Amino acid sequence: MCGIVGYTGKSSALTPVLEGLRRLEYRGYDSAGIAIPVGIGQPLWVEKRAGKLGNLEQTLDGTSPQSHSGIGHTRWATHGGPTDRNAHPHLDNEGKLALIHNGIIENYVELRSELEAKGHHFVSETDTESVVHLLSDARKAHDGDLAAAMRDVCARLRGSFTLLAIHSDDPDRIVGARRNSPLVVGVGDGENFLASDVAAFITHTKRALELGQDEVVDITPTSIVITNLAGDVLPPHEYEISWDASAAERGGFSHFMLKEIYEQPKAIADTLIGRINGFDAHLTSGIDLAHIKKIVIIAAGTAFHAGLVGKYAIEQWSGLAVEVELASEYRYREPIVDRTTLIIPISQSGETMDTLMAMRYAKSHGAQIFSVCNTNGSTIPRESDAVLYTIAGPEIAVASTKAFITQLIAMYLIGLHLGQFTGVITAEFVAQMHDELAELPDKVEQVLETVEPLRTLTRQFKDSSSMLFLGRHVGFPTALEGALKLKELAYMHAEGFAGGELKHGPIALIDIGTPVVAVMPNVDTLLAEKMASNVQEVKARGAVVIAISNGEVPAANHVIRIPSTHDLLTPVLAVVPLQVIAYEMAVARGNDVDQPRNLAKSVTVE
Ligand code: M6R
Repeated sequence: MCGIVGYTGKSSALTPVLEGLRRLEYRGYDSAGIAIPVGIGQPLWVEKRAGKLGNLEQTLDGTSPQSHSGIGHTRWATHGGPTDRNAHPHLDNEGKLALIHNGIIENYVELRSELEAKGHHFVSETDTESVVHLLSDARKAHDGDLAAAMRDVCARLRGSFTLLAIHSDDPDRIVGARRNSPLVVGVGDGENFLASDVAAFITHTKRALELGQDEVVDITPTSIVITNLAGDVLPPHEYEISWDASAAERGGFSHFMLKEIYEQPKAIADTLIGRINGFDAHLTSGIDLAHIKKIVIIAAGTAFHAGLVGKYAIEQWSGLAVEVELASEYRYREPIVDRTTLIIPISQSGETMDTLMAMRYAKSHGAQIFSVCNTNGSTIPRESDAVLYTIAGPEIAVASTKAFITQLIAMYLIGLHLGQFTGVITAEFVAQMHDELAELPDKVEQVLETVEPLRTLTRQFKDSSSMLFLGRHVGFPTALEGALKLKELAYMHAEGFAGGELKHGPIALIDIGTPVVAVMPNVDTLLAEKMASNVQEVKARGAVVIAISNGEVPAANHVIRIPSTHDLLTPVLAVVPLQVIAYEMAVARGNDVDQPRNLAKSVTVE
């Protein structure tokens, strides 16, 4: 959702704050703002603008103030439209206290009435503004102690939040807090940082501190104090950021998404390191597998599609029943869950609120949690019994690509591991599958070397109103993923269907010229034969069919060839052309590839 940055140190704050915002813009780009102290006890200097960060940057020039601390925000609007007035930071009535926020304050209406009755004047429609007024009163009650005020305020808030505040009376100090929303501390030399994500300060320091739930952090250039809401000082949990700053740069590619598509071979290889060919014995340590009767995968969006593929692999290899649930639906239907259930949340960010809440619900009913996550130190892995980290590196584009492909790899690793545990598969089979997995980086590389014609082909359909994706077995979730990518990037109607379901309704959508992508990876299988019939059916009604396959598909108008692999592993190869189609279509339609409209990378609200 929103991106948050705070800096206090020796540099002029404008530079690290704007640089941090640029790196966090993937989190939200409806508006952006910055607050900087310009003198002790003076009103803060605040600049904020609707639209992308670029709009804000255009208003800044050589006359912008130099100061050694500041906070900045890039917004994904929830309460109040994306206007200048609703942009963060929000100020108290003296203009000396500024606050930025990510999340939703559920009790803001009652707080606002209470504060208005006390004489506070509001200027925006946001939930956040109630918090800055509340903080202003609390700070006065605590004789100017901003951290103590923040603790009091957090105790009164319902909902989810990351908050950062700065006051001009104590300009070197920034106070932050978090509940169900990310906040990390960057530990520098004579300078410190607060941010939603380490990407904001990775060029300055690789030392980071985790913050737990309902913790308040108080930073100056030379000190970092973390407390709980009762005011007890807590020991810091420091970790080193393993990836390099260049991982968060575009590196010559026109978009992050394209770069991330091309990083997939490496992401797969990195995720496999130390986990195949005899090194997978400890994959689930921390989990009591002996009592597991059922597995429930919970996830959202693309991660949900990885979970759907996981169901096929895990059930087939382990003999354990697997359900896959949309995280946003799970806890509201009172699911049957207890100690014999293994919950596998899948999340790139580790912060998706729907997934987190579903996981907490299951945990409170006794389930064990084994998460799959790409973000070290994020909330979902922190609250899990065990974690399998995907090693995709930072994914900046809003549309998930390399994170998805590594989530698939995680599903296979888990399936093979559980299969050995239950005894359904032999050690020889596991070794064979590990070899197949090890070949995937090269095979994805081969796909990437041959997708060029697909880019030209995709442009032919740029004015189509709709595109359909068909698949069977693991090709079905692959088709769903292809459709989601196209929707979010090309803003084009797209749907994924199971091939066998076509005749039950969706075939009515086919018209002359409707583009249909048929995912039919391994030609010599029964499923491919069935898919070939589906291709005939849609072609007979005027569709233009692009088949994704390892061989000839005579009925198709175009065939995009991919290498052969084990049936269950085919989504890893078949999804790559689908990503390219979505990317190319977005470019052809003039859309913002990395920051598609209305979306944000990490969805930290329910
Ligand atoms: O961070 P997560 O993996 O939990 O995110 C889940 C979804 O929000 C995410 O996959 C979303 O669907 C992507 N934008 C899809 O490209």
